[in-house]
Amino acid sequence: MQFDTDKLVQYFSDAPEDISLSDINLETIPSHVSIIMDGNGRWATARGLDRTEGHKAGVLSLREAVTTSVRLGLDVLSVYSFSTENWKRPQHEVDLLMRLFAETLLKELPLFYQENVKLRFFGDLEALPEKTRKTFQRGLDETAQNTGMTFALAVNYGSRAELTRAAVFLANQIAEGKVSADSVTPSDFEKYLYTAGLPDPDLLIRTSGELRLSNYLLWQLAYSELYVTQTYWPDFSKWDVLRAIKDYQGRERRFGGVK
Ligand code: FPP
Repeated sequence: MQFDTDKLVQYFSDAPEDISLSDINLETIPSHVSIIMDGNGRWATARGLDRTEGHKAGVLSLREAVTTSVRLGLDVLSVYSFSTENWKRPQHEVDLLMRLFAETLLKELPLFYQENVKLRFFGDLEALPEKTRKTFQRGLDETAQNTGMTFALAVNYGSRAELTRAAVFLANQIAEGKVSADSVTPSDFEKYLYTAGLPDPDLLIRTSGELRLSNYLLWQLAYSELYVTQTYWPDFSKWDVLRAIKDYQGRERRFGGVK
């Protein structure tokens, strides 16, 4: 995707000492960056605050990540917002998150218009509170005409559930005689995933230092480059995006082949 060079240079003009825009190659920006936004709770606890304050602070980082991704010309930014396992959290934290998702989306609609961002969700949305679901639908409707970056939010998402669901869909298609089992390819299978139509992530960023995938995009991350930073999500800034891209650009992607 194209970027506006003037806006980009201006946006990254206040560089810290260790990283600047000139450290990355604008010709090889990843098309799809995905983020596991982790560390909100620890960020808050370290400050003597309730965990929910970490999620509220995390909204600001997310806003910055969206703007940064648009400035850099990404095609897709996706984020892991709520997993199928996150329901196990204290009820007041789950309630706050559901409220925060809905409120943030409404509040940020002007940003999405201004930046030509198209929204997308992936996960089992049926299980979400009605108000959250309705707000998501409104976000989808109101950004459907936008033609710029896709901002995809994983909500009530779990990769094993997604893969199981896809396998069941496909099995039904085969049982009904609509698909021949012998001819099924990986790209046929992908059509049944929540993420159908999105490119696979080129780069996965995980904040807060945890070295695991946490049931996130197990199929789609097959050849993604992984970048883990110790930074907690609420402290993650546009400069951390540049650091991650710089690291990514130093990798040699072979997709199982040789160079
Ligand atoms: C992980 O940190 C974060 C989440 C489960 C929620 C992410 C939500 C936000 C960033 C809020 C805004 C999101 C949207 C889509 C508006 P954690 O709570 O697991 O942190 P911990 O590992 O330190 O406990």
